[in-house]
Amino acid sequence: MKQKFIEILKSTNRKGMENVLAKLEELGFYEAPASTKFHLSYKGGLLEHSMNVYQAGLTLREQAVRINPELESQLPLDSIAICTLLHDVCKTDIYKEAMHSRKNDSGFWEKYQGYAVDYEAGMPLGHGEKSVIMLLSWGLELKPEEMLAIRWHMTAWDLPMQSPEHKSSLDAAKKKTPLVSLIQLSDGFASGLVER
Ligand SMILES: [Fe+2]
Ligand SMILES: [Fe+2]
Repeated sequence: MKQKFIEILKSTNRKGMENVLAKLEELGFYEAPASTKFHLSYKGGLLEHSMNVYQAGLTLREQAVRINPELESQLPLDSIAICTLLHDVCKTDIYKEAMHSRKNDSGFWEKYQGYAVDYEAGMPLGHGEKSVIMLLSWGLELKPEEMLAIRWHMTAWDLPMQSPEHKSSLDAAKKKTPLVSLIQLSDGFASGLVER
């Protein structure tokens, strides 16, 4: 799966991708879980989630273009690859191994190896915005539409409370490019349906 992930990203021929791949290796992206105890909370879960979002992105794009052919040029395949596979790079440096407790089938509490979040371990810059900043700081050339799609991939879930500015920005981003909605839907499709 790791080889496939690298192959797809290299095939975009995007400037700066080699350095992004080196950084992901260095920071442990391929060993990270996708969450502490929700979806794919095990070693390699983040890679698996990213690949699921990529598959969802291709499927949703195909269906959307079939219904509305005008979308084809606004949803380029290299943008789908970059946004789906790299939308959650912000999670690369936030997990650490930790022991958790759960009740087993006999009703007794047992300890198990899981993960906890440590935001101070890396750069605590938020979520989607953190992914964009990390990618840019590693020298990746991102199109404006891709920055919007990665920044806003969580829909309204990570909107700061009572922030009309953020809410308006999200609305405007969705109007600017259909890539924002496609990446939001692909992430929700993967985490909400495929990874249940
Ligand atoms: Fe995310
Ligand atoms: Fe995600």
